[in-house]
Amino acid sequence: MVTSEVKTAGDIVGEVVLEEREYECPQHGKYYGRPVYIAWCKREIDPMCPVCEEEKSAKYAAAEQIRLEEQQRQQAEANEQKRIEWLKGLNIGKIFWNESFETFNAYTPELQRHLSNCMAFAKEHKGRKVVMLGNNGTGKNHLAASILKVTGGVIYKIMEIELMFDKHVSGDIRRWEIIKKLCEAEMLIIDEIGRSKASEHELNWLSYVIDKRHENYMPLVLISNKHLKDNCPQNGCADCLQNFMGNDILSRITENGLIMEFTGEDYREKKRFQSKGAK
Ligand SMILES: Nc1ncnc2c1ncn2[C@@H]1O[C@H](COP(=O)(O)OP(=O)(O)O)[C@@H](O)[C@H]1O
Ligand SMILES: [Mg+2]
Ligand SMILES: [Zn+2]
Ligand SMILES: [Zn+2]
Repeated sequence: MVTSEVKTAGDIVGEVVLEEREYECPQHGKYYGRPVYIAWCKREIDPMCPVCEEEKSAKYAAAEQIRLEEQQRQQAEANEQKRIEWLKGLNIGKIFWNESFETFNAYTPELQRHLSNCMAFAKEHKGRKVVMLGNNGTGKNHLAASILKVTGGVIYKIMEIELMFDKHVSGDIRRWEIIKKLCEAEMLIIDEIGRSKASEHELNWLSYVIDKRHENYMPLVLISNKHLKDNCPQNGCADCLQNFMGNDILSRITENGLIMEFTGEDYREKKRFQSKGAK
């Protein structure tokens, strides 16, 4: 009867571990170890110096660590590149690339209200409209960029859209593509409305885009430095938004939209003031 047919790999190639011997490492001196005799090639393999062996594996581990770090660095770089492409697609200005709802300092009850309204809008925006009104530097674009980062879509200054049209005066298809993008963007934010008096053309496409988006439950945000005539301190002045676009367009937006008025101070001025040591 066969008692044991089990053979180790060593048995198969004919390895035999011999008696312990003394060796001399040129670098680390004396050491003891057991050589291995390999039958098939009739060779003895000396054991490695344990210090050399340790050094070798430490070197290997260090190289492996460097390789891993390089791999991580490349991954981080690729992620950052992707993030930049994404931000460019949203058309967010570089100063807002690292801004978000989290970095917004809601230092007045009004700003707290705006911040929580914007966060809620970003979450639940289907068919909703927001109009942000107020002086420069009051945080409108900061919140707009924060919304976009959540919803996707695109922000344009009204002038930018006009320039895109100008570039394609002769190409009707391109004009259609621009309009189509404005109508279909996940979220559309138009900034600097009322910076200059709207042309007939501007009012036409704007009106079309607003209607089209409204019909399809697509959200819209309009930003302006002007104020609504209803809230005009002088009951009508050069800074009334109504001077820049027709009441018909405005009423369509304001009728079922959220109007946010930013009456605070210019944040940059505030910061400059504070950094000079004043409170
Ligand atoms: N409440 C705030 N908390 C943090 N940063 C702010 C705040 N308000 C404005 N800023 C910063 O000040 C600068 C100007 O604000 P911005 O949003 O462009 O103002 P607006 O669009 O109303 O002109 C931006 O760099 C913005 O990030
Ligand atoms: Mg702005
Ligand atoms: Zn050695
Ligand atoms: Zn006015």
